[in-house]
Amino acid sequence: MYDSYLYFPATAALYTASVITVLFLIAGAFASITLWFKGKAHSLHHGLNIPAIIKAFIFDCVLQLQILKISFVRWLMHFCIFIGFMGLFAQTSVMAVASHFLPPDTALAGTMFNHVDKLGGFGARVLDVWGDIFGLMLAVGLAIAIVRRYILKSAQLETITKDTVSICLLSTIALTGFLCEGLRLTDPMYADVAAYSFVGNILAGIFSSMGWTAASYTSWVWLHAIVSFFFCGYLPFSKAWHIIVSPIEIVLDASERAK
Ligand code: HEM
Repeated sequence: MYDSYLYFPATAALYTASVITVLFLIAGAFASITLWFKGKAHSLHHGLNIPAIIKAFIFDCVLQLQILKISFVRWLMHFCIFIGFMGLFAQTSVMAVASHFLPPDTALAGTMFNHVDKLGGFGARVLDVWGDIFGLMLAVGLAIAIVRRYILKSAQLETITKDTVSICLLSTIALTGFLCEGLRLTDPMYADVAAYSFVGNILAGIFSSMGWTAASYTSWVWLHAIVSFFFCGYLPFSKAWHIIVSPIEIVLDASERAK
């Protein structure tokens, strides 16, 4: 195990929180799978049809064209939240795994983390752009969901507490994430690379004009991390679990229908 990091070091407390979160995720997934196997009737009657699975994965899971046929706004909201969340989840996972399993003397670790230069190299810039693209998507999707559900009160929508909890948690994660980035970028040491974090950079300008500094960065990252861990641990028990379960159901259903 190595201890590389870009902007925020992993401490023993962060490790412990990650492990607890993963245990909750495994327990939740296990509970779902156990429930599926309680079904008496067979749900799969044929062997898997791989071309149908790939087609359904691309068009119905990633691009979600079946929602686009119903409404553009619903599609935009759904697409942005799904892809935004998945992109950020992947980014956080890549950083966590790479920082602990990639030897610091390898070229990849050297470009991602701040061993030599506190700013990191090309890999760090890729992570900066990656985070802001998917973070912006998540924020746009959530903004549409909030307007439709709570301001326009769209007739087709029935809001239950589970929806509100998921939307509140995700919004807090997105807001605190960008708050952290904006606060960090008020520090002049990041001036040369701040433009890569194109959303955080705009926020940094606003924060600087309000006199906010990077001094509280660590505290905000902790709040952001705790809410993120809570959301991930709660995921299998929440409305947002369909982010994981629906793609599995869609591809298996497509495989069955193709036979
Ligand atoms: C799946 C869960 C998570 C989501 C959806 C998420 C989302 C975000 C978003 C939208 C941002 C702002 C854009 C960016 O800089 O990437 C951000 C920033 C950040 N997140 Fe997360 N996050 C998650 C989990 C975590 C966890 C577990 C940590 C652990 C410490 C973490 C640490 C950070 C840090 C340090 C920043 C600021 C990066 C900077 O200074 O530029 N995030 N996150």
